[in-house]
Amino acid sequence: MQSCADPVEAYDDPLFSRCYDRMVAALPKSLEVGKDVQLAATLLPEGGARILDVAAGSGRVAFGLASHFPNRPLEINLLDASQEMLSRAREQEPPHTACRFSYMHGDMSDLGKILADAPRFDLIILTAGSIHHLLEEGERKGLFEGLAQLVEPQRGRLLLTRLADEEIICAEETADATVQLAPGVTKRILRQEKQECSNGDAVVHTEFEVSEQGEEEQGSRVSWTLRTIRPEDLAAAATAHGLLLVRRASGFESAMSGNTLDVPDRDSTVFVFSIA
Ligand SMILES: C[S@@+](CC[C@H](N)C(=O)[O-])C[C@H]1O[C@@H](n2cnc3c(N)ncnc32)[C@H](O)[C@@H]1O
Repeated sequence: MQSCADPVEAYDDPLFSRCYDRMVAALPKSLEVGKDVQLAATLLPEGGARILDVAAGSGRVAFGLASHFPNRPLEINLLDASQEMLSRAREQEPPHTACRFSYMHGDMSDLGKILADAPRFDLIILTAGSIHHLLEEGERKGLFEGLAQLVEPQRGRLLLTRLADEEIICAEETADATVQLAPGVTKRILRQEKQECSNGDAVVHTEFEVSEQGEEEQGSRVSWTLRTIRPEDLAAAATAHGLLLVRRASGFESAMSGNTLDVPDRDSTVFVFSIA
């Protein structure tokens, strides 16, 4: 167990990152795990394509796409702020595919600078609510500036998701409560703090101990901080940088069908943008 005063950011912790894929696989059905890959697959143009997975983590979506199209020469770039998560991704890179992968360590709010000289992308993915990790207005602005700079005009698409705030980010967790995250993986809440921003967003900081039961139980004390984002603010931040809203839906299934711009804005969790 760690004994230092400040817990490490969860994604920088070797144990947490090792358990990440198992935890995602065990998420409730309502979160439609895996459907993000299906939706992303429908947004790709024919033939070869350049893809950027922002906050790619262990490569769940990037590699899901590669497995979906094993014979297509996709160039898939994975960017993440955590070296641990990028290591998990490298370990899991699918071997038999026509896709090429590259890995970048960096902060998504600096996207435009990190990829200043890169050609634009046919598909940019920012899923699993990773946008909630950006806590400052300036960071969100930096992210959208970069995204607008990097989406291929007209045919390019940006797939972005947020989490339904009340259900997930603001769910109150009782100190000392232990919850099962996946078979053999538990989380024990140590401390949770919630603050309100001037625009009404909530910032929730949670410290917890993640444990993996094996022959010898191992545990790490970690934390994360998430900021809610209202759907209308997300859409406004994107359109302020020239991105055009193409689809908006309350889930991946509905994003794959019908005229999704008709859904009530407040329920939106899945957004697809293009740029002129
Ligand atoms: C919920 S995981 C999502 C991983 C992956 N996209 C998926 O769908 O499974 C969030 C990821 O965001 C990354 N992350 C957090 N803040 C970041 C930042 N400022 N820039 C880049 N990546 C960040 C974390 O390291 C983590 O891998």
